Amino acid sequence: MPTEVSEKTASFTESVIRNMTRRALKLGAVDLAQGFPDFPAPTELKEAAKRAIDEDYNQYAITHGSPNLRRAIAEKVRSYNRIDCDPESNLTVTCGATEAMIASLLAVVNPGDEVIVFEPFYENYGPDTIIAGASRRVVALHGRDFSIDPKELESAFGPHTKAIIINTPHNPTGKVFTLSELEMIAELCRRFDTLAITDEIYEHIIYGSARHVSIASLPGMAERTITISGLSKTYSVTGWRLAYTVACERLTSAIRKIHDFLTVGAPHPLQEAGVTALRMPESFYAELRAMYEHRRMTLFKMLSEAGFGCRLPDGAYYIMADVSHLGFADDVAAADFLLEEVGVASVPGSSFYQHKELGRGLVRFTFSKNDQTLAAGAAKLKQIESKLAKLRR
Ligand SMILES: Cc1ncc(COP(=O)(O)O)c(C=O)c1O
Repeated sequence: MPTEVSEKTASFTESVIRNMTRRALKLGAVDLAQGFPDFPAPTELKEAAKRAIDEDYNQYAITHGSPNLRRAIAEKVRSYNRIDCDPESNLTVTCGATEAMIASLLAVVNPGDEVIVFEPFYENYGPDTIIAGASRRVVALHGRDFSIDPKELESAFGPHTKAIIINTPHNPTGKVFTLSELEMIAELCRRFDTLAITDEIYEHIIYGSARHVSIASLPGMAERTITISGLSKTYSVTGWRLAYTVACERLTSAIRKIHDFLTVGAPHPLQEAGVTALRMPESFYAELRAMYEHRRMTLFKMLSEAGFGCRLPDGAYYIMADVSHLGFADDVAAADFLLEEVGVASVPGSSFYQHKELGRGLVRFTFSKNDQTLAAGAAKLKQIESKLAKLRR
């Protein structure tokens, strides 16, 4: 049949997260599902983007990134991430961290290679590993603090392990991997001659005493790590589609080949404006953290008041909440009730698990929203009991 789709495509669904946003829009619900800000991007960035268009940066940039942006990223990577980075040979600018991850996997994975992923994991890594032809091995994050069992992790490594995907700060749990956890992972990567692919898109969104550490800065890791970060979350420009990979020259040239044929390049005027983003003063990052700290407490309080069990995240802008007490068959039914009856969009927890049953009692909410949106969400959540009673009548 000419209309038959590939087995790979048939093996995963469209994103549950992004579908929740579409449903929320349609129903006029409060969208606490997808992680994007509903407040304006910084004025300096909008001005810089308009200027770049007026200055006629309107044709293709160099495929692996405009020299101005690569220079700015390299400076930031050296100072913030403590990774040595040559903009000529270690950097590839991509269309979002989304492209950076899939391009990295396509650049390194051969059919049958194993890739280790901590569970729960950001939804995209499921289809990413399938598209790249990798065999996925999941390692559980345990308990309330989402800790790693060293023995379980070690036993996931073997002769076929090509890479381990790390995501810190972590979506959906808010875990920030500690230095000793990263040292343990690094030791295994060196011992089993394995790559680390680390998604650090939330690197600037951390709370309290949590510290962001890039695994590539640990001894012997620079040559075996692909570090991914980007502008979407830090600068509230998820629609600009700007991110990058940092890797040794050999890996970078492989990633650049894949990237070139996937997308040719990220939008040129926005790359030029991205230079302004990367050169924001220290105060910008302090204000960003303070703003999210306030929203983290707001969401935590409103979920706790609604009777949901949850934990304060150490990083990123999500809270996983236990909704099993609502009495629905699973997380999808609970999220449907919250969306359709209560008017608040969340993400069913099972979307973050390979072992779907582990997410059955959970839904994820984001606090990357303005105070009015969070207040509207809080007001709706107060109606849970009456909506449940109506349902049971
Ligand atoms: C862990 C993680 N990686 C990547 C992305 C996507 O980043 P980008 O907008 O740069 O593609 C997200 C967005 O939610 C995310 O949570």
